This record gives sequence, structure tokens and C-alpha cells, in this order.
Amino acid sequence: MTAKKALITGITGQDGSYLAELLLEKGYWVHGIARRASTFNTERIDHLYEDPHHPQARLFLHYGDLTDGSRLANLLESIRPDEVYHLAAQSHVRVSFDEPEFTGNCTGLGTTRLLEAIRSVGLPCRFYQASSSEMFGSTPPPQCEETPFHPRSPYGVAKVYAYWATRNYREAYGIYAVNGILFNHESPRRGPTFVTRKVASAAARIKAGLQDLVYLGNLEARRDWGYAAEYVEAMWRMLQQEEADDYVIATGTSHSVRDFVELCFEHVGLDWRDHVRFDERYVRPSEVDHLVGDAAKAERLLGWKPTVRTPELARLMVDAELGALSRPSVPAAPTPGRAVLAPVS
Ligand code: NAP
Ligand code: GDD
Repeated sequence: MTAKKALITGITGQDGSYLAELLLEKGYWVHGIARRASTFNTERIDHLYEDPHHPQARLFLHYGDLTDGSRLANLLESIRPDEVYHLAAQSHVRVSFDEPEFTGNCTGLGTTRLLEAIRSVGLPCRFYQASSSEMFGSTPPPQCEETPFHPRSPYGVAKVYAYWATRNYREAYGIYAVNGILFNHESPRRGPTFVTRKVASAAARIKAGLQDLVYLGNLEARRDWGYAAEYVEAMWRMLQQEEADDYVIATGTSHSVRDFVELCFEHVGLDWRDHVRFDERYVRPSEVDHLVGDAAKAERLLGWKPTVRTPELARLMVDAELGALSRPSVPAAPTPGRAVLAPVS
């Protein structure tokens, strides 16, 4: 049987990197879309590098941007993937209040651009939309597939738009398009300004004597934090079903930001109260207070179940930070021989 071809948008992000690993392990040809930047942004996938001239190479990068619809259509036409995993987005909730218009364009309309490209090219591919628990916003937990949305940020609003665009293309054109409604998932590859990575990194650096304080916003918000490496398996399973459908992916437990801080500092033997200070710049104009997902449908139909809970996640993230601090630092500019992925362009 010929290997399947997947296209991942957002391959340079946290989830994109884990998903690329998973699909390569499964024997897929993996194509990824990356943004052109003046610095390298492929750090999370450099370890997957294979020289594209090598006959065995199975990972290929292409320049592209979610705001450029004709480029997306041209890429779909030339790659002709069997499965499209749409993970790219302006994904930071706090930033979305500062850049609401860009967030709507990228995170919301970006999905329509891809779906419309699939429709106009006439590709018989399957489509995964990275939907979010942020869509539930102020609707009280537990949240499942039937829970009404009440988004509380421009990011949440954009994700609701993209969720309905995905359902609409499924209903209107019969495209196999699914929404994975994923609750917060974290890892050592998490962006450094999301609260879990920020706190894990601060706890490790304070322990190592590299800093003394960390400034945070609201400590009362509660989140259902799972492990990203496990969540990408659920994405893949959603595209292997007979019928397209939408699924919540979560651990079913919740902890406050304060709990997470305590877990990280406890792990390095420090009292968090000595090192955490409040800064209102990290407070959002409207907050999502409490998210806890009910992933019973995913367990029943996809056979997916998480194993890593928040306390273990906090410890593994702090250990990764401590490990990185004890290794010699990687030079900022690539040294000759270091594999840096170059998009084909
Ligand atoms: P992430 O680490 O922030 O990665 C986002 C990716 O999107 C990066 O590869 C980024 O490229 C790319 N991107 C951003 N703007 C783009 C644009 N205009 N054109 C092309 N690419 C663009 O996010 P993540 O945590 O992996 O999350 C993956 C997806 O799941 C996102 O859609 C996010 O909103 C959604 N989601 C995440 C969670 C979570 O807890 N992690 C939960 C629910 C849903 P650069 O590397 O160049 O920045
Ligand atoms: N980022 C950040 N920085 N958050 C802070 C801070 C801080 O200094 N202090 C407190 N928080 C609180 C936020 O107010 C929020 O209630 C909580 O920590 C989690 O914030 P983030 O880690 O930024 O994640 P998020 O829940 O807003 O959004 C993430 O999860 C969504 C799924 O529910 C992102 O990954 C989204 O892309 C994703 O859709």
C-alpha cells in the first residue's frame, strides 16, 4: 500500500512538532507549512530533519501564511495530501486582545481559506480543525461536545467562527472535516509565554540562582491541563473514522494557576510565595474562569484516554527546564553541520 501524505499547518508549533513525529513514525509523507521569518523558527522540528535531496526523505517544508489564500490553494494542488491537519493560528489569548483584527484574519478566516481551497481544488482529503476549549468561555464546566459556546476573547471568537466554518463545509459540501475541541495541553515544547512553561521555567531558573522573581496575573483561573504528546494521537484518530464528527479531548480534571505554581516550586523545594509577584499586564480584559472537559465520547468512539495528569505534567516540565539549564547552550546561529530545515522555495 502507498504511504499516505499529510499536510500540517503550524508544523513549527508545539502540537505540529509532536504530530509530525507521530505521522513519520506511522510511515506518512509529511509536508508542513512554515512562515518565513528573519530568524530560524524550526527549532521544535530540527531533530526530524532529513536532507530533502535524500531518496528516503519524508519530511518537507513549504513557505506559506494563513493570510495568503492563493498560496494555500497552490500548495494543496501541488502536494495533494490525503489528510490536512490545520494547527496554525495566532494562539495566544492575551495577545488576541492586543491584535484582535489579525487574530480574526489568521485564526478565524485562515480556516475558511484552507477549506475553500480544498473545495475549489476538489481534493478528496480529510481535514482536521484545531478547535479549542476557549470557545466554551464562561459556560460552566464540565464542558462536552453539546455545551454551548460563550467565548471571552478575540481568540475564542475566532475559534468559534472556524469551528462553524468546518461544520458548514462538512454539511454543505460533504467534506470529511472534523473539529478536535482540545482543552489546554502543555509540554516542554510549549511557547515560553503560556503560563505553564513560564512557571516551570521560572521555578528551574530560580532554583539555579539565575533569577529571583516571576510576575504573573490571575492565579484563580482553573484549567484542564493535559500532555500535548498524548493529544496529537487523538487528532490522528479523528481522521481515521468512517464518519467525520467533533470530539472533546481533555483529562477531566482541573487545577488553578496557583496549584500549578505550587506544584512546580514544590518540585524544586522552594516556597512559591517567596518568588511570585502580581503584574496586572498579564490580566485579561475578560477571563475564562473554569474549564474541565468531558472526553467520554472520544474514549468511547476513538478509544483515546489520557494518562498524564497535571501534577505529573508540572514535574516533567520542570525537569525538562532543569535538564536544559544543565546542558551547554546551543549557539544562536547555526554552526556548519547543524541540521536546520529549509523550506522548499
Ligand atoms: P503554537 O505553539 O502557538 O503554534 C502555532 C503555529 O501556528 C506555529 O507553527 C506558528 O508559526 C503558526 N502560525 C501562526 N500564525 C501563522 C500564520 N499567519 N501563517 C502560518 N502559520 C502561522 O500553538 P499550539 O499550542 O501548537 O496549538 C496548535 C493549534 O491548536 C492552534 O491552532 C491552537 O490555537 C490550538 N489549540 C491549542 C491548545 C493548547 O492548549 N496548546 C488547545 C486548544 C487548541 P511560528 O512558529 O512561525 O510562530
Ligand atoms: N499566559 C499567561 N501568563 N497566563 C497567565 C499568567 C501569565 O503571566 N498569569 C496568570 N495567567 C492565567 C491566564 O489568565 C489564564 O487564565 C491561565 O493562566 C492560562 O493562560 P495561558 O497559559 O495563556 O493559556 P489559555 O488557557 O489562555 O489558552 C491556551 O489554552 C487554550 C485552550 O483552552 C492556549 O493554548 C490557547 O491557544 C488554547 O486554545
